[in-house]
Amino acid sequence: MATKTGEGFSSSFGAIMAAAGSAVGLGNIWRFPYICGKYGGGAFLIVYIVFVLFIGMVLMMGEFVIGRRSGEDPMKAYPALKPKRPGWKYVGLAGLMTCFLILAIYLVISGWTLNYFWESLTGRLAGIADSDFGEHFKQFASSAGRPLLCVAIFLALTALVIVGGVDKGIERVSKLLMPILVVLLIALCVRSLTLEGASAGLSYLFKPDFSKLTGEGVLAALGQALFSLSVGMGVMIVYGSYLPKDDNILKTSLWITVCDFAIAILSGVAIFPAVFACGQDPTGGPGLVYQVLPVVFNSMGTIGRIFSITFFLLLSLAALTSAISLLEALTQWFSGKRLGRTGSALTVSLLVIFLAAAASFSFGDGIWSGFKIAGMSLFDLLDKLTGTILPPVCALMTIIFFGWVMNKEDIIDELSNHGMVKIGYFKLFYHILARVVAPLALLIVLVAGIIGG
Ligand code: PFF
Repeated sequence: MATKTGEGFSSSFGAIMAAAGSAVGLGNIWRFPYICGKYGGGAFLIVYIVFVLFIGMVLMMGEFVIGRRSGEDPMKAYPALKPKRPGWKYVGLAGLMTCFLILAIYLVISGWTLNYFWESLTGRLAGIADSDFGEHFKQFASSAGRPLLCVAIFLALTALVIVGGVDKGIERVSKLLMPILVVLLIALCVRSLTLEGASAGLSYLFKPDFSKLTGEGVLAALGQALFSLSVGMGVMIVYGSYLPKDDNILKTSLWITVCDFAIAILSGVAIFPAVFACGQDPTGGPGLVYQVLPVVFNSMGTIGRIFSITFFLLLSLAALTSAISLLEALTQWFSGKRLGRTGSALTVSLLVIFLAAAASFSFGDGIWSGFKIAGMSLFDLLDKLTGTILPPVCALMTIIFFGWVMNKEDIIDELSNHGMVKIGYFKLFYHILARVVAPLALLIVLVAGIIGG
């Protein structure tokens, strides 16, 4: 048990499941397939793998080290490791604020997913004509009551797990849900791959088309790598503070990274062959899951209904374990303010539901869609801030702290479990990746992003 509060994961396996639960989410199943297809399939994949391994995973190890070494929440962790530089606590604070914003928008999309799961289960989706799915989604997402109800239910489920505690709540639920998720996803892949015409979907996903890999695509790959691995915002500092003392940080990070990547790929394999086999448009963008896939499911008859229920259940479960990690990061921080676990989980939930409601009302033709900030609706603003701007900024600050400010001896001691584990990779990891490659790449992406508007 690493934290000052004595809470922590009970085993390395539990820690891996919980952190992989955080990583695997809407980002893998909803976002990855359409960005990958959009920016050149296999060409995007090559860049993505490089970013995941050499930047995302390095950050994850860095956050685990910061979290376990300090045993503190992100805001206290930085000054705890470098007492002479208390200003670094603002990096922790910025990460937590980013978590709050991500959680708000994440809840809205998770709410949609829950609604689609319900509508699949009750047969409502099966009764909609193919040409009406676009309108159905727009009407639902732009209405006020139902999306908010779905957000509230989803948030209540998330908070319930948090109140259960780190090992009895988060770890237990993740150990149960992650294997279920993998089984559901594999079942979907098998079905999708056995449809006639499935191979066109595979080549869309995997065949490298370098002409589509624009500068924007490279930026999207880095943003996606950070978002998907849940790094940069401090969530992995929080989970790091719960890691068992004898956990091998390199191995744990590798497992999480491999799991996250494999699930993103499998999601593409489950989605695109089916989309192509049913003659649908693969470039559906964010609407792919809510507007294109239901058409695909409906065209498959009875099996399509099972396919649909399974898919939206899968997506809801994946979103749940990610939302749990976001709420946990904020809850841990608030608990430090004498509120206790239950009190702080409830306080954060209450605060975040207001923002989620406002974001939901501002979506599409929603009742607050006329209210614009910098020319954008609140939903679009949050999407932009949390998707492309804040995570790389926070990630850059985190890696600078890790590579240039934190004591190297502390890092060696933590990665080697006080000399018990060999760390022959340290030179490459620390001197090349953590100090040079990762910060430079993040800086370039940020500057390019700002210049490109
Ligand atoms: N990694 C999650 C996903 O791919 O959906 C989203 C996420 C969770 C991002 C937690 C950031 C975070 F701190």
